[in-house]
Amino acid sequence: MKSIASAPGKVILFGEHFMVYGAKAILCSIDKRIKVTSQVIDERKIKIKSDLGNVEVDVDSSSNNSINLMKPFVYLATRTLKKFKKNGGIEINIESDIPSGIGLGSSSASCVAAAASITGLFEKLPKEDILKLAIEAERTIFKNTSGADCTVCTFGGLAEYDIKNGFKKINSKVDFNLVIANSKQSHHTSEVVEKVKKFKDNNKELFTSLYSQESELIQNALLALEKNDLSTIGSLMSKNQILLEQIGVSTDRLDLLLKEAKKTSFGAKITGAGGGGCIIALVDKSNIEQTLTNLKNHDDVFSSKIDYRGLLDTF
Ligand code: MEV
Repeated sequence: MKSIASAPGKVILFGEHFMVYGAKAILCSIDKRIKVTSQVIDERKIKIKSDLGNVEVDVDSSSNNSINLMKPFVYLATRTLKKFKKNGGIEINIESDIPSGIGLGSSSASCVAAAASITGLFEKLPKEDILKLAIEAERTIFKNTSGADCTVCTFGGLAEYDIKNGFKKINSKVDFNLVIANSKQSHHTSEVVEKVKKFKDNNKELFTSLYSQESELIQNALLALEKNDLSTIGSLMSKNQILLEQIGVSTDRLDLLLKEAKKTSFGAKITGAGGGGCIIALVDKSNIEQTLTNLKNHDDVFSSKIDYRGLLDTF
């Protein structure tokens, strides 16, 4: 029997990095997915196939020292086989619409889809339990994740999130598109988060001030989202970018993309950890084509809508 699950990628509209220190963030899932298919095999192995390569690990080798990016899947498979006292192994196939390492939630979406697909071989868990497992799995490679990315990939839609209060859906009727451009500078989220921690430790007062500016900006963004006021949301995104530049997570290449994007969109910023990855520009039907054209020299440019479905599974 095969167990299949898929989860959407995500963008962070407001609040990346500051959310690691408790600030509210606003995220939305996007219509690009990762699909994970699992099946039980007789061999006592965990076999993983993905765009990042193929890996085989012995279930009984006591340490999880598989290739770094595969650790979450090895963790989920080992834990599940142990829980159900199974003698065989699991084969896991990961197919993705989202390139990894570009800030669109590929790691979180694959952890969520894998948690649902692997546990789905033996039991049907509620989304809350899948999310808990997915965050545990992601922590095998990214110890300090706030958990926000996995949360929005699980529940889908547009949401506010903070570590203390968790996830809260934003139900207003917002209607926008995003133009997403990939800088093709790859990054490791955990390394960029570590760099921001050093910045914070060395610039305590400045960081406190930036944190409170971010928190105020997000309150205004929530009001603008309620009114579907795209021009205010866009201008707040561009202001958020200035705060991100101050904590050192933008790059020359990202700045160049942002300059182009801002010419025609309502506003633009990096999304996710930065240090590379993607920028997002807020658009609607009045300016989507012009913004895509502005960025067309960069071949990895596409538009996206909010995905309202979140985790999907078929057992
Ligand atoms: C990464 O998409 C978002 C960060 O805020 C890290 C996190 O919240 O886990 C940079």
